Amino acid sequence: MTDRRALLKFLAASPLLGGFAAAQKALAADDGLESVADALDVFDFEAAARRILPPAHWGYLASGVDGDVTLRANMQGYSRWQLKPRRFIDVSHMDLATEVLGTKMSSPVFMSPIGSQRAFHAEGEIAVAKAAKTKNQLQIVSTVASMPLEGIIAARGAPVWLQLYTTNRFEATTKIVKQAEAAGCPVVAVTVDLPAGRNTVTASRLRKDDTRTCANCHVVGPSGNPAPNLALKPLFTGLDTQGLGQTSPSLTWDFIKRLRDVTKMKIVIKGIEAMEDAQLAVEHGADGIIVSNHGGRALESGRGTVESLPEVVKGAGGRIPVLVDGGVRRGTDVYKALALGASAVGVGRPHVWGLATFGQQGVERVMDILNLELRLAMVGCGARSIREISAASLIDTGAPRPG
Ligand SMILES: Cc1cc2nc3c(=O)[nH]c(=O)nc-3n(C[C@H](O)[C@H](O)[C@H](O)COP(=O)(O)O)c2cc1C
Repeated sequence: MTDRRALLKFLAASPLLGGFAAAQKALAADDGLESVADALDVFDFEAAARRILPPAHWGYLASGVDGDVTLRANMQGYSRWQLKPRRFIDVSHMDLATEVLGTKMSSPVFMSPIGSQRAFHAEGEIAVAKAAKTKNQLQIVSTVASMPLEGIIAARGAPVWLQLYTTNRFEATTKIVKQAEAAGCPVVAVTVDLPAGRNTVTASRLRKDDTRTCANCHVVGPSGNPAPNLALKPLFTGLDTQGLGQTSPSLTWDFIKRLRDVTKMKIVIKGIEAMEDAQLAVEHGADGIIVSNHGGRALESGRGTVESLPEVVKGAGGRIPVLVDGGVRRGTDVYKALALGASAVGVGRPHVWGLATFGQQGVERVMDILNLELRLAMVGCGARSIREISAASLIDTGAPRPG
C-alpha cells in the first residue's frame, strides 16, 4: 500500500508523465473522494490536495509569511460578524448574478489569480478556464500563468481579467499589457502588495521534504528559494528576462498614470488595505480596487482583509467598485463581504485545491459548493438578489471570535 501510494505520488508530481491527472484522482479516491460529489465543503478538497501535491508545491500553495498570522487572520476575520436571519420573505426566486466593470457573472464569487497553475494539475489554467466557462464565473489570470493567455481565453470562451505584476522595466510591462489588451482582456488588475520581497517560511520548510530538483523548473536564488523562471512563462515570451524582476521597490502612484497612458483596459488595483490608499486610488483614476493581502503572503500584519474592507469601501466612497479576497472558505463569508460593501469576492487557494484534486471538475465543484452556501445564506437573511444584501443583516461582535 505504501509503495502504491509512493508510486502514485511520484506520477502525480510529474506533469511530463501521462499518469499525472489519473494518479491525482487515484490518490483522492484513497482519501475518500471517489468523485467530486463526495466533497461536501472546500476543506475536503484542501485535505486531498495536501496529500496529493508534492511537498514543495503544497508548501507554495499553503504558505503565508513569517508565522502565517495574516493567513489565519484572513479566515478568522469573518467570525467577527454574525448573520441576522429574517423571516416571512418570499425566497422562492433567488438571483446570484451580478456585473462588475462590465463583466457579467453568474455569482459574485471569482477565481483570484494564482501563478504557475501547472504546478497543481497538468491542465493548469486551462482547467480553471473551462470550469469558469461552465459556471460562468470571473477568472483573473496571473502574469506568471503557466499557460498562454490566448489558450486560456479560448477555453474560457469569454474574456478574462489579467492580473499584472508591475515588473521593474516599464517597456516589458507595456508589452505584457498590450498582449492582454490584444487578446481581449477588458480589465487589468495591478498587484501592488509585494514591492520588495517576502519571507515565506512555511514554503521554505516544506521544500526541505521534497527530493525533486527545483532548478529544473525554477530559478533558484542565493537564498535557495526558487522563484518563477520568467523566461518559461508564456506572457514573457519574446521579452528579455535577464535582470527582469516581477515587481519593483521604487514604484509610486505615478505608475497608474503611466499604465493609463499605454492601455484602454480598465485598471483595478489589487492589494489595497487602507482608506487613505483607497482615496488615492480614486484620485489617480483607478477603475476599481481589490482589497487583498495576497492571501497572507505579503505583510505579516495580522489583520484579515475582511477587517480592512469597511475602511477601503469608505475611502472609495461609492465612486469605484471594491472587490475583496483572502480567507474566503464559506458562502457565508462571501455574504458577509458583500454585506460590508464588496462588489465581488475572490477565492484563491480553494479553487486550486479543487484543481489539484480533480482538475476542471474539482474547480467546478468548489464553485458549486460556495455558490450553494451563498444562496442558503441569502435565503436565511431574506436577500433574494445580490443587490438586496446589506449591512443590516450583519451583527458586529467587535472582533474575530475564537473557534
Ligand atoms: C499559490 C499562490 C499563488 C498566487 N499567485 C498570485 C499571482 O500570481 N498574482 C497575484 O496577484 N496574486 C497571487 N496570489 C494571491 C491570490 O490572488 C489571492 O489574493 C489570495 O490567494 C486570496 O487568498 P485565499 O488563498 O485565502 O483565497 C497567489 C496566492 C497563492 C496562494
